[in-house]
Amino acid sequence: MRLLAIETSCDETAAAVVEDGRRVLSDVVSTQIEIHRRWGGVVPELASRNHVVQIMPVVDEAVTAAGGPGAIDALAVTSGPGLVGALLVGVQVAKGLAAAWEKPLVGVNHLEGHLLAAFLGDEPPTFPFLGLVVSGGHTSLYEARGFGQYRLLGQTRDDAAGEAFDKGAKLLGLPYPGGVAIDRLARTGDPAAIRFPKAIVKGADLDFSFSGLKTALLHHVRKHGVPEGQGLADLCASYQEAIVQALVQKAVRAARRFQLPTLVLAGGVAANSRLRAAAAQRAADYEDLRLVVPAVRLCTDNAAMIAVAGTQAHLRGALDARRLDADPAWRLQ
Ligand code: KG4
Ligand code: ZN
Repeated sequence: MRLLAIETSCDETAAAVVEDGRRVLSDVVSTQIEIHRRWGGVVPELASRNHVVQIMPVVDEAVTAAGGPGAIDALAVTSGPGLVGALLVGVQVAKGLAAAWEKPLVGVNHLEGHLLAAFLGDEPPTFPFLGLVVSGGHTSLYEARGFGQYRLLGQTRDDAAGEAFDKGAKLLGLPYPGGVAIDRLARTGDPAAIRFPKAIVKGADLDFSFSGLKTALLHHVRKHGVPEGQGLADLCASYQEAIVQALVQKAVRAARRFQLPTLVLAGGVAANSRLRAAAAQRAADYEDLRLVVPAVRLCTDNAAMIAVAGTQAHLRGALDARRLDADPAWRLQ
């Protein structure tokens, strides 16, 4: 099955054609980062308007590279969660194409897409696995038992890990997206230079909380100002370390507790070099814990991952596309 997937839930306009949920024939991502940077974060109305401008060229490029509309058997589109105006652009275009081409269409949950991105790698995971989804809007631990079978085990009580990176970076005067900027600066910094509180919730031990950490950074900056040079690198490395340690500790704890032999990292924050290294170090402590980390390109928003989830949804029996609508608060499980 050759599936065209469309993704417009946030600030990336993306389309991809994937064969049998495994082989990527085309994968096009047009990012709006430059447009939102001057505002320090994603402006929903600007995102919607730019999706409208970008969507047809992006879809056209993906479909042409895969052999044209005749090569497409089915469609999938991210229908939630995300920014409602942004989602609507992808959903309406997908519905239009599905009607014109007389092909089935299915709506995909964006988080399921992230969870399944690892299936496009050379060494895909096997079920069951523990999925750590860390993005700009979510920080969640899922038990994945099979395609379409997920159970939420823990999540953030306040900010998402990506938000903690982005808001922290903003405080330090670094450009959006903050995660990328902090990751880069932290490489030459000392993660033990400054002690930050761990992003952990007492009592609910598979939940996260990043607001205390953000406040601690604010107090630090108010007291000492924003340092330059090595001081800034140390501050970034220490702040990043607090986020990463919380993520790794809870993900491994959940995998052990629920006897899940594989840990899968997913979402934009899984592109973080320190998180990837720390997860590998920690997983190596356990002989029977396998770590699967998708390529960086598959961690941040893309449509190929939506195609993986969409293909499986079609195999389970596609829904009636006429009833498909954007669902900005769609909870996965
Ligand atoms: O999954 P994603 O591309 O979009 C959402 O679904 O939200 O994730 C975006 C988030 C942003 O918060 C961004 O700062 C973060 O992923 N991010 C990173 C890195 N690359 C992207 N965070 C830390 N280190 C990175 N290298
Ligand atoms: Zn995402």
